[in-house]
Amino acid sequence: MTRTVLTLPGDGIGPEIIAETERVLERINERFGLGLQFEQGQVGGAAIDATGEPLPGETMEKAQRADAILLGAVGGPKWDHLEMAQRPEKGLLGLRSGLELFANLRPAFLYPQLASASSLKPEVVSGLDILIVRELTGGIYFGQPRGVRETDDGERQGYNTYVYSESEIRRIGRVAFEAARQRNGRLCSIDKANVLEVTRMWRDIMEELSADYPDVTLSHMYVDNAAMQLVRDPKQFDVIVTGNMFGDILSDEAAMLTGSIGMLPSAALNAEKQGMYEPCHGSAPDIAGQGAANPLATILSAAMMLRYSLGAEKAAVAIESAVSSVLDQGLRTADIDSEGTQRVTTREMGDAVLAAL
Ligand code: NAD
Ligand code: IPM
Ligand code: MN
Repeated sequence: MTRTVLTLPGDGIGPEIIAETERVLERINERFGLGLQFEQGQVGGAAIDATGEPLPGETMEKAQRADAILLGAVGGPKWDHLEMAQRPEKGLLGLRSGLELFANLRPAFLYPQLASASSLKPEVVSGLDILIVRELTGGIYFGQPRGVRETDDGERQGYNTYVYSESEIRRIGRVAFEAARQRNGRLCSIDKANVLEVTRMWRDIMEELSADYPDVTLSHMYVDNAAMQLVRDPKQFDVIVTGNMFGDILSDEAAMLTGSIGMLPSAALNAEKQGMYEPCHGSAPDIAGQGAANPLATILSAAMMLRYSLGAEKAAVAIESAVSSVLDQGLRTADIDSEGTQRVTTREMGDAVLAAL
């Protein structure tokens, strides 16, 4: 059986981190006889430059046909002047909504070797293992109406709509309860139910769902407190479930608990378990082209792809063990290095993972 993996390098450091991840996947493909075929496509600024659109029809067709998608990152200063609908980010958002990839899994796991790379004290973060389940195709990111209009007083008014339907909340809730059931049985739903009706309803629906999961302990927290608790005592969390925008913000915060945003992988799944896999970070224009980017978040995203979309658990574990062994060797890209470790480039990190495989 051949299966197709579509790679979409995108912009900035995207091509650099995808190149290393492709090498890892090719090696894994041979070693485990997975029969994977690789296709390439364009998205984001790279696609705008080539075709005028952030998500060309051809890319969308390839994405629909693929068994799994691996994406680098999109965006950068070159395209920041463009109108919202033409921006590189629209390419990413279009893939997420077009493929209905509503379930975004962002695991914040601290490799013990990186306990001193975090900006928090080692005792606060050591043993950290959180899963953030972020709703990815709804909420304020996609709500209508949206835009900028002129008021009767002649001033501009910007507006977005924070909306969730019951069915959207139920389906992400079920993913989170199931995940908590597989882990330590604790689910914290994060909202702003003291101010926003939509998240009051979110909270009520999570409560209703909890009747089906007696083995999971559900709790609720306001997002402002959650932002604080994540740095005060992050280990109180097991699984977090939250909406699109809160999940975006909290996952960058959680990334710092693992040492660097360069360590945080993600999976975005639809109901058929087709998935798009990408690091949580962006295109990092400040370090693009320097060979300084950490490719591990993307390499770990490939491991998630093998696990969730390609049914290759052993191959996924092989990658995760290789990453751990590279960290044991003291090799670090600039974002995670500290005293006594050896600084390496993006390529050298890729080489080391390959060698460890
Ligand atoms: P960013 O995540 O690109 O960068 C934030 C900081 O983290 C920078 O200092 C960067 O150098 C560092 N960083 C990020 N990834 C790293 C890595 N792998 N190794 C080492 N350091 C890394 O966020 P930003 O600067 O706010 O956004 C830049 C562009 O990326 C924007 O256009 C934004 O829209 C886009 N973006 C895209 C995605 C995506 O494609 N999924 C995600 C976030 C941001
Ligand atoms: C992410 C990014 C995206 C988001 C942007 C680039 C659209 O920040 O994947 O976390 O906000 O979802
Ligand atoms: Mn983000």
